[in-house]
Amino acid sequence: MNSCTKRLKKLDITKSGSSSWRAPSNIALVKYWGKKEVQIPCNPSVSFTLKNCFSETSLAWSPKEEGSLTYEFMFEGQSKKSFHSKLDQFFEKIIDYIPELNHYHFIINSKNSFPHSAGIASSASAMAALALNLVSFERSLGLDLNEEEFIQRSSFLARIGSGSASRSLFAEVACWGDHPIFGNDHYALSFSNELHSNFKNYRDSIVIVDDQEKAVSSRVGHALMNNHPFANERFTQAHANYSLCLSALKSGDTNSFIKIVEAEALSLHAMMMTSSESYMLMRPGTLQIIEEVRKFREQTSIPICFTLDAGPNVHILYPSDNLDVVMKWFNDKVKDFKVIHDELGNGPEMIL
Ligand code: PMV
Repeated sequence: MNSCTKRLKKLDITKSGSSSWRAPSNIALVKYWGKKEVQIPCNPSVSFTLKNCFSETSLAWSPKEEGSLTYEFMFEGQSKKSFHSKLDQFFEKIIDYIPELNHYHFIINSKNSFPHSAGIASSASAMAALALNLVSFERSLGLDLNEEEFIQRSSFLARIGSGSASRSLFAEVACWGDHPIFGNDHYALSFSNELHSNFKNYRDSIVIVDDQEKAVSSRVGHALMNNHPFANERFTQAHANYSLCLSALKSGDTNSFIKIVEAEALSLHAMMMTSSESYMLMRPGTLQIIEEVRKFREQTSIPICFTLDAGPNVHILYPSDNLDVVMKWFNDKVKDFKVIHDELGNGPEMIL
């Protein structure tokens, strides 16, 4: 079976059960910004998988007599009705792929390793963890999938919840989106076997410039690319940066990597600033940190660089060699901000 198609096989809808997964967050190196229906990206993207920033989600299922899917959702032990509209939309979009959902009541418990107020997007890790649980549910009802198909189907379902979540299913580095050299629009693929040792020990220290919820959601940001005056140029640039980035990751070329990653971060924010409505998510602290990173790189030749999510916080990427020098720099130049230190991780884990 293609792990991402609608199923013909009827599953056993009398079983109850539960599962629990930890799924990491990821940081895009080449950014996905702009999409077509249903969460098909306008350009391919590639990301580092993180280790310390993750979501843990458990799912318990019990069959019910009649009606349609029902669920209770708890975040950090508290019932969270505010998450229901996003979950309702997600379930509606995947019901054709998992029709058995309609015969069940679910209890979903989720929590994040990072503080809710850290300004770190949790949708990638949360949707990846939920998708893994949903495929575990299908498997317990008799769906036959090997390990590769299991992850592929989880990535496919996660993508429908949140595009960037499709990449959170893989160790170290993942690619998502059609490209002649490598990639697929429907689910992400691992690029870990190709990753040069220069990048294997990379860290991502996230400087929390502002911990408030962002003023403009990614959903709105993606939509603003539909009529954006520079959309086509941006998609062309991202396609080119994607193949350059994969080559750099493969050959260990940290100089090219730095150029591409920083250009991608700034292009993403340039798109926001030049969209109609225009908006800006960078803050003075964002620019201050960017300048410090560039100065430090010039002074030391350490291959350190920055990237940005759709928010003001700065992700600082660097190898763990010279860690004491880099930590001294953090304590000196970044001391006014909270920092979450993270590193490349090994992908999701089932919690027993
Ligand atoms: O997955 P979404 O819809 O939250 O969009 C993510 C967009 C960026 O984080 C800015 C880029 C990316 O590729 O992760």
